[in-house]
Amino acid sequence: MKSFVIKGDICWSKDSTTLTAVKDGYLVCVDGVSQGVFSELPEEFNGLSVEDYTGKLVIPGMVDLHIHAPQYSFRGLGMDLELLEWLQAYTFPEEAKYADLEYAAKAYGSFVSHMKASATTRAVVFATVHRDATVLLMDMLEDAGLVSYVGKVNMDRNGPDDLCESGAEASAGETVAWLKEIQGRYENTMPILTPRFLPSCSDELLRELHRIQTDFGLPVQSHLSENPEEVRLVQRLFPDASCYGDGYERYGLFGGSAKTVMAHCVYSTPEEVELLQKNGVFVAHCPASNMNLASGIAPIRRYLDRGIRVGLGSDVAGGESESMFRAISDCVQVSKLYWRLVDQDAK
Ligand code: GUN
Ligand code: FE
Repeated sequence: MKSFVIKGDICWSKDSTTLTAVKDGYLVCVDGVSQGVFSELPEEFNGLSVEDYTGKLVIPGMVDLHIHAPQYSFRGLGMDLELLEWLQAYTFPEEAKYADLEYAAKAYGSFVSHMKASATTRAVVFATVHRDATVLLMDMLEDAGLVSYVGKVNMDRNGPDDLCESGAEASAGETVAWLKEIQGRYENTMPILTPRFLPSCSDELLRELHRIQTDFGLPVQSHLSENPEEVRLVQRLFPDASCYGDGYERYGLFGGSAKTVMAHCVYSTPEEVELLQKNGVFVAHCPASNMNLASGIAPIRRYLDRGIRVGLGSDVAGGESESMFRAISDCVQVSKLYWRLVDQDAK
């Protein structure tokens, strides 16, 4: 059903500082596109079916800008380590299991059914390196009716042998095979290029991914400046890069013509912030994950003041819950701590 009317107390944000509500209003959708909110139903829409939610609050669907589907199975567990150790101890071993399609079907089935029951209607999703399991996840998300971007992960170094791809060529080859396999297959499920983060990708792989990005015109998602030790590791691995973001930028994987979402941005230097802004990179703010992995508090006010576009990510399973309501309250709470502990001039 793509054309309908919803009646109820309709509440939405006009911009980042203005909330609006229309009591006993009508929200009109024609061919999947909102026509607006009205206090009386305009005559031209009289023929549409009306779903009556009188007395209930009607809000827009939530967008989760950063979530790892294969990590849903261990959400809330393994919260005693920082990022790099957490990846090796818990995350990589779990993700390696998705080589087994039977396991993937069971675990992704649980993930997708919880997503369907949640307030999230759109999501930008990491899968794993495995092509077959990624296609299975995309099939399930499409069936569930979510609108999503899904990425087969690329990683060819600094991970265990049973997860890491065997080299740049193998990783790029699987990615192209994946993209060809899903071409024209979905209405609401789109591919997104997903280098895990700079420490997981050789220079050669990043070059290959740039080629794939331009050939297929793909958007990009990854992680940026999440943890102090991670940032130091990137400095060692990419000595010529002037900042973490510049490491991606050198391979054309940091905004501009390659629409990009970068998760975390807790330790972005002034130069990196400049580059985020200049290239129109989207920041995925993941407050729960930044607490659980003791990463820190992202200076989001600084990004908002510059007009950088920021969205919220649950970052399951750095984050322990897929609830975007939870992400909203976490965001407000860490923002207050930032003000108290870091900068009382920050609004
Ligand atoms: N950096 C690289 N991989 C990951 C991941 O799976 N989760 C988080 N939070 N950060 C990452
Ligand atoms: Fe993440």
